[in-house]
Amino acid sequence: MTKKYKPVSNKIPKMLHGADYNPEQWAEYPGIFEEDLRLMKLAKCNVMSVGIFSWAKLEPEEGVFNFDWLDHVLGKLAENDIYVFLATPTGARPAWMSEEYEEVLRVGPNRVRNLHGLRHNHCYTSPVYREKVSIMNSKLADRYSTHPAVIGWHISNEYGGECHCNYCQEAFRKWLKDKYETLDNLNHSWWTTFWSHTYTSWPQIESPAPHGEKMVHGLNLDWKRFVTDQTLDFYKHEVKPLKSVNPDLPATTNFMEAFEGLNYAKFSEALDFVCWDSYPTWHDNEGDVNQAAWVAMNHDMFRSIKGGQPFLLMESTPSLTNWQPISKLKRPGMHLLSSMQAVAHGSDSVQYFQWRKSRGSSEKFHGAVVDHVGNEHTRVFNDVAKVGETLNQLDAVVGTSVDAEVALIFDTENRWAVKDAQGPRNQGVKYEKTVAVHYQAFWKQGVPVDVIDMDSDLSKYKLVAAPMLYMVRPGVGERIEEFVKQGGTFVTTYWSGIVNENDLTFLGGFPGPLRHTMGIWSEEIDGLYDGQTNSIKFGENDLGISGEYMAYELCDLIHAEGAEVLASYQDDFYAGRPALTVNQLGQGKAYYVASRNKQPFHDEFYSKLIKDIGVKKSLESKLPVGISAQTRTDGNHDYIFLMNFGEDKQAVKLPKGEFISMIDGASLSGKVELSPFGFSILKRELNDVRI
Ligand code: GLA
Ligand code: ZN
Repeated sequence: MTKKYKPVSNKIPKMLHGADYNPEQWAEYPGIFEEDLRLMKLAKCNVMSVGIFSWAKLEPEEGVFNFDWLDHVLGKLAENDIYVFLATPTGARPAWMSEEYEEVLRVGPNRVRNLHGLRHNHCYTSPVYREKVSIMNSKLADRYSTHPAVIGWHISNEYGGECHCNYCQEAFRKWLKDKYETLDNLNHSWWTTFWSHTYTSWPQIESPAPHGEKMVHGLNLDWKRFVTDQTLDFYKHEVKPLKSVNPDLPATTNFMEAFEGLNYAKFSEALDFVCWDSYPTWHDNEGDVNQAAWVAMNHDMFRSIKGGQPFLLMESTPSLTNWQPISKLKRPGMHLLSSMQAVAHGSDSVQYFQWRKSRGSSEKFHGAVVDHVGNEHTRVFNDVAKVGETLNQLDAVVGTSVDAEVALIFDTENRWAVKDAQGPRNQGVKYEKTVAVHYQAFWKQGVPVDVIDMDSDLSKYKLVAAPMLYMVRPGVGERIEEFVKQGGTFVTTYWSGIVNENDLTFLGGFPGPLRHTMGIWSEEIDGLYDGQTNSIKFGENDLGISGEYMAYELCDLIHAEGAEVLASYQDDFYAGRPALTVNQLGQGKAYYVASRNKQPFHDEFYSKLIKDIGVKKSLESKLPVGISAQTRTDGNHDYIFLMNFGEDKQAVKLPKGEFISMIDGASLSGKVELSPFGFSILKRELNDVRI
C-alpha cells in the first residue's frame, strides 16, 4: 500500500511553513509590509495564506472592486519566493451586503434573524449570497489563478454553523423529498406515529427548534446530514468559478479539531487535499501525554479522510490562543515537538494563525509569529524559525505515507446518533473519549492507525476496532463479517449494533447486523452511577491476559452464542456473565468488549492482540511512557519520528540496523536519548526489517 504522493504544488516540493497573513490590517502603517517580508525570510517561511476575511477590502462598495493592494502583496511575495494559498473571502461579509440584503444573514434555530456581525454569519442557501460569492470568486480566479505566487485556493475559512431561514427550510424539504419520495416513508423512518407526530404534508416539516420539534431523532439526524450536504454544496459553488479558469490549481478548506457540526468524511472527493487547524491545550491538567495522543488521533483522522494522502496543518499557534479557558504558553521545546508530531502523522506543512499579531479586536492577544513588539527578538519568533530550519531538513519526507495495519472507526453520523439517543447514559455517553482510549493503547505501542468512518474499505487492515458502533449503516455489518471471515480481527464494544441509518433500532436482538459476527446476544445494558464500579476477571485465554480490571459507567449483559468467554463480571446480579468474548469466524476473530473499562485494560488487551496477530509497529522496540513513535515511509525508506511528550529524559532502544538522523546526518545505533519535549527523526533503508 506504500505510496509516495506528489507535493501539493510542483512549484515547491518542500515542507511548507507559514501563516495566515492579512497585511490589509496594517495598510496604514508604513514599512510594516516590507518588514514582514524580511521577517518571513528570517523565520524560514515559504508560504502564506492571504485574503482570508478580506471581502470589505476587495469590494468596499457593492460592485466596486479593488485588487490593487492584493496585486502588490502577491507580487512582492512572489519576488521573495514566498508562495500563497489564496483565500476566497467568504468567511465573513462586508457590512454593506448585510445592510442591503437581509437574506444573507443567518436565522437561528429560534427563527430569529441575526444582526450583522461575527463571521460565518450567513446563509449557505441564500441566492443573493451565492450570487455575490460567484462574482467575487470569478474575479479572483480571472486575476490570480495563474499567478506565480499562488499554489492553491483556501476556500472560505472553517465552515460551520447552520441557518433556519425560509430558503433553508425549503431546501431541507426538497432534500427530504429526494431521499424519502413519500411522506409514508419519511413517517416510518422517523417513527412519527409516536406522540402523534405524523406529517400529512411536506410544508409541516420544520428544522429542529428549541421551541418546537427536537425529540424526533430521525429528524435531528437528517437535519445534520442536510447541513453537511448544504455546506458541501456551497463549497462546490465556491470552487466552480475557480476551477473553470484553472482546473489544475488545487482547492481545500480548513477543518477544525473534533468539530461536530459537519461530517467531514463527505468532503473527501470535493477537496484536492485535506487541511486542519490544531489548537491543543498543552500543559493542561489532563497531562501532555493524553493531549499528545488525542492530537495524534485527530491528525490520523484528517489524514484518513482522503485515504492516507498527506494533509496540511493549515493553522496552529506558535505560542498560545486567546479563546481557550486558560491561555498557557507552550513550554520550551513544545512548539517544535508538536509541529514535528503533525509531520510525523502525515502533514506536509506547519502553518500558523497568524503571522503578525493584530493590534485590536478579538484576537489581539492570540499568539502570532510577530508579536506587538514588532521584531524577531522573541522566544516565539525563534521557536518558529527553528521549526522552519527543521522542516528544511525534511524534503525527503514530503509526500510519504503512513502504512497503517490498524483502523479505528470514528464515525460522525454514529457520533450524532449516539449522543442524541436518550439511552443508558445521558450525562455524557462519551463517544469521543471512548474512541480516544482505544486509540491511546495503539499510540503507546507506536502502532500506526488510520481513523476512518464506517463506510471505508476495511480489507487493507489486519485489525479494525469500532468502539460504540451504535449505528450500523446498510452493508456495514456484511462488510465487517466478510473482513473477519477473510482473516481480519475485529473489536467492538457495548452499545454497538443498536440502530440503523434512520436511528430505528434493530429488531430481533442486539448487536443487530453484528450479532452473527460477534457470536453474542446483548440482552440489556446497565448504566452505573458515578463512583459505582464492577470488575471483570480473566479466565484461561490464548492472549495470555490475566487478572482483574475495573468496569464502570456501562455494563452490557450479553449471552455467548458461539463466542468463547475470556473474562466475566465479578459483582452484582450479573456476576459470572461474560464481559469479554471472542468469536472465531472463518479465518478471523471478533472480540466483544461488554463493559466500559479504564485505560489499563485497553493497554493490556491491545498490546496482547497486536502481538498475537503480528501488527507492524513504527519501531520494533518497547517505548517508555510518554514516548511516541510514528513512521512515514516511501517504500524504500522509513522516516521514524521519536517524540518525547513526557517531562523526563528518556532513551529508546534501537533495533538492529542502520539509522541516520535526518537533522544532523549522524549515524545512530544502540539507543536514542530524548530530552523532555525532545524528538529525533531517523531514516532507515528498508529491507523489510519491520515486523
Ligand atoms: C481559527 C480561525 C482563525 C483564528 C484561529 C484562532 O482556527 O480559522 O481565523 O480565529 O482560530 O485560534
Ligand atoms: Zn438560510
